[in-house]
Amino acid sequence: MMNVLIVGAGAVGAFYASRLAQVPNCQVSVVCRSNYKAVAANGFKVDSPKYGSYTFTPHRTLANPREASDSNIVWDYVVVSTKALPDVSDDSEILVGLVKEGHTAIVLIQNGLGVEEPYTKRFPAATVLSAVTIVSAAQTEPGVIKHNRWTRISIGPYLPGSTDTTIHNGDGKTAIERNKTFIKALQDGGVKDAEDYSHAKLQMVRWHKIAINASMNPSAVLSNGSTNNAMSADPELHRHLKGVMEEVLSVAPKVLGTPLPTDLATPEQILKSTMKNTSGSKPSMLLDWEQGKKMELEVILGNPIRIAREKGLEMPRLQSLYALLRMSQENRDKAKSKL
Ligand SMILES: NC(=O)c1ccc[n+]([C@@H]2O[C@H](COP(=O)([O-])OP(=O)(O)OC[C@H]3O[C@@H](n4cnc5c(N)ncnc54)[C@H](OP(=O)(O)O)[C@@H]3O)[C@@H](O)[C@H]2O)c1
Ligand SMILES: *[C@@H]1O[C@H](CO)[C@@H](O)[C@H](O)[C@H]1NC(C)=O
Ligand SMILES: *[C@@H]1O[C@H](CO)[C@@H](O)[C@H](O)[C@H]1NC(C)=O
Ligand SMILES: *[C@@H]1O[C@H](CO)[C@@H](O)[C@H](O)[C@H]1NC(C)=O
Ligand SMILES: *[C@@H]1O[C@H](CO)[C@@H](O)[C@H](O)[C@H]1NC(C)=O
Repeated sequence: MMNVLIVGAGAVGAFYASRLAQVPNCQVSVVCRSNYKAVAANGFKVDSPKYGSYTFTPHRTLANPREASDSNIVWDYVVVSTKALPDVSDDSEILVGLVKEGHTAIVLIQNGLGVEEPYTKRFPAATVLSAVTIVSAAQTEPGVIKHNRWTRISIGPYLPGSTDTTIHNGDGKTAIERNKTFIKALQDGGVKDAEDYSHAKLQMVRWHKIAINASMNPSAVLSNGSTNNAMSADPELHRHLKGVMEEVLSVAPKVLGTPLPTDLATPEQILKSTMKNTSGSKPSMLLDWEQGKKMELEVILGNPIRIAREKGLEMPRLQSLYALLRMSQENRDKAKSKL
């Protein structure tokens, strides 16, 4: 029996949990927070164009991490799918008492860069798998998950310092085995495009994703709430977005020491398809901004800038967006606290 614990059972966590739960030898439990009452009473209602409408009843629905450690279950995988907000909280702290070093693999399903570091620092001997996804999902009310489209999730063992051919030590081998088992479980649960990557390739996927996120997301907020489509159709913003993406994609290979894969979409291709799509979709940072929530600006903007800077590289377009957006958030929160 494989025991999986989901920490951060929101849109993304609950969606993948509901797929893993379809696998016969897989028991999926969740730690809830604001949705605890609803989930404890009714489980999760999932609605998906691909998998239909179904209920996912977790093996255990836990009100907090302490209940998860008191459960006496030895967790094979602890999946973290909270929003990555290192400026607000160090979520690796939640895992204290849940990770059995040498056994439990930590799986991070979060976008952005540098999300792994707090976990490898706190649990140096634990296996960490790093995952990014392009799924589009939302929790429309507590315990109700609307899967919109896409399922792809890219996963790789987090082995900093390794290149594809340098994984020879025991730790590396364990990480690779755990990655295989987890990917297989997702595939058995119907996520056919769960994809495996090496450490170096997965970091490249992360950088490529932030080319899109770091351009569209902050710009949508700083341009007073523009949609991706409206921004890509405006000539000056089009240039701006292209410039940001090019900056990210030119720095990434220098930081990682490997060339960009040739099959990735180019900035112009990304912008072209954004111009065609008039559906008015808003980037997640804009949704967070509109709801008065903290944005994932450290992992999408701050960390890439700092990681590049450590290598002597500046990212001036990203840096401007970061500085402006961070101060906007600070001012917004100050104004809110005066109310
Ligand atoms: N949604 C998407 O379509 C999408 C697509 C690609 C990537 N992602 C990435 O996936 C990650 C998760 O995003 P999401 O959209 O799933 O966010 P979300 O719906 O806000 O889910 C996060 C969940 O984590 C819970 N949580 C946070 N801190 C917790 C704590 N200390 N203890 C217990 N639970 C805690 C939140 O509970 P509360 O409700 O109490 O805050 C919430 O249920 C992000 O990195 C995001 O960028 C999302
Ligand atoms: C991860 O797992 C997959 C499939 O199960 C495997 O093919 C791949 O080589 C693994 N990745 C690494 C870096 O070990
Ligand atoms: C856009 O400007 C209006 C008017 O100042 C303001 O109320 C609104 O919050 C702004 N939206 C964003 C996303 O900045
Ligand atoms: C455009 O975006 C919307 C919402 O994000 C999505 O539902 C739709 O499939 C997209 N259309 C194309 C052609 O990609
Ligand atoms: C990043 O972009 C993806 C689409 O590629 C989106 O699903 C995700 O929510 C975005 N994340 C943030 C923090 O903007």
